[in-house]
Amino acid sequence: MRVLFCASEANPFAASGGLGDVAGSLPKALVRSGVDCRVVMPLYETMKYRDRLSFVTNFSVPVGWRSQYCGLFTCEYEGVTFYFLDNEYYFKRGSLYGFYDDAERFAFFSRAIMEMLFYTDFTPDVINCNDWQTALTPVYLNLYYRHLDKFSRIKTVFTIHNIQYQGKYGLDILEEICGIGRKDAHIVEYDGCANFMKGAIEVSDRVSTVSPTYAGEILDPWFSHGLDGLLRQRQHKLCGILNGIDVDSYNPETDPNIPAHYNADTFQEGKLACKKQLIERFGLDDDGSPIMAMVTRLVGHKGVDLVKSVAEGLLQQGIQLVVLGNGEYAYESFFSDLCGRHPGRVGVYIGFVPPLARQIYAGADIFLMPSKSEPCGLAQMVACRYGTIPVVRATGGLRDSIQDSGDGKGNGFVFQQYSAHDLYEACWRAKEGYWQKEGWPVLVKRAMQCDFSWNVSARSYVEMYEQVMNLW
Ligand code: GLC
Repeated sequence: MRVLFCASEANPFAASGGLGDVAGSLPKALVRSGVDCRVVMPLYETMKYRDRLSFVTNFSVPVGWRSQYCGLFTCEYEGVTFYFLDNEYYFKRGSLYGFYDDAERFAFFSRAIMEMLFYTDFTPDVINCNDWQTALTPVYLNLYYRHLDKFSRIKTVFTIHNIQYQGKYGLDILEEICGIGRKDAHIVEYDGCANFMKGAIEVSDRVSTVSPTYAGEILDPWFSHGLDGLLRQRQHKLCGILNGIDVDSYNPETDPNIPAHYNADTFQEGKLACKKQLIERFGLDDDGSPIMAMVTRLVGHKGVDLVKSVAEGLLQQGIQLVVLGNGEYAYESFFSDLCGRHPGRVGVYIGFVPPLARQIYAGADIFLMPSKSEPCGLAQMVACRYGTIPVVRATGGLRDSIQDSGDGKGNGFVFQQYSAHDLYEACWRAKEGYWQKEGWPVLVKRAMQCDFSWNVSARSYVEMYEQVMNLW
């Protein structure tokens, strides 16, 4: 089975969020299970490991009525073949996204993926596109390549990592930028906009999302950002497969970024050493208080407003808070201010530093993830792997990966309603649990023993690919 996995980011080359983690780890698991899975992504200026790439060829790609240069580079990383599509005008920029011409940059990328197939000996059985940045690929496949023998049998899967970002623009870009004429505009048109994600949902053979619960939630307007009507119509091709994490990389036994190593049997000493280092790093009081941490983008859907409401209350309960992340200015300044007012009790770093994130996963006791919505969420799984007990709201992948420990099973603390009161109550239970000196290590051990590897989910992906390949 040959699968081309298309993503706008992939670890370890370039990543800004969970998509990069998935594109860096799922293909590796698929290759291990015998699938010839290859990844294609843009060649960004800011990318790591640029010196490992080798040039294959170059060709031109239609962008509206114009034609643009595209270089094709490749490299093998941990058994996976990566292709990189190069155009300095589009990708030689300071960051991955957030430019006035993102529609054009990713229309180019989506079209270049199709053109690239003329220049490689790789004809996929399935093209798996991810999020809006690659959503036009299946649209282009159907409009401009289907009639060619090489492309006629290719099946398509579109995976939604977050329905909030759909690639929505004015209709005027369709002809000029996307090269989609008036006759075909209806494929990508939705609610009076050009909507890339809508196009992919319309034409792909399968639409998947990153947890079973989220696959149900996005049929509801509260979660769907306007796409629930369309998804309900197309429900027969929608499914949810829970993400895994790269357990080789996120491994407290070998992680070079943390000061002491440990596993599910030796965590008591190991975590204590990591906690000591974290206390020093953030200048916290070394008094045995539970450290509650957040590693997150500071944006609305992560539930930061709930944390704002309960933060002072948590501190009064003797909890210490550590926050790493950046995002909306109002949240950043709230946490900076909180840190200034509570020396020794609160540690804040505005920004994102991957090694520091790992030191927090290892050194904290409790991990906070009260998301309003969460398609999958990886941090709660990483936290479990490092023996840090998650407090989560029961939504999306959080609901599918964390069970409340109230009944003596479970791996965390779960609350249902999106309310500050319920979050506060769950945090209070976690803090009480922490002080139970016999019960807590049992919980930590159980959390560390959860299997969040890709083993199970990679099998579900293979089954999904087999199903689409059997479609007529
Ligand atoms: C997005 C989602 C997150 C998910 C990740 C990987 O970042 O917001 O919940 O874990 O994609 O699928």
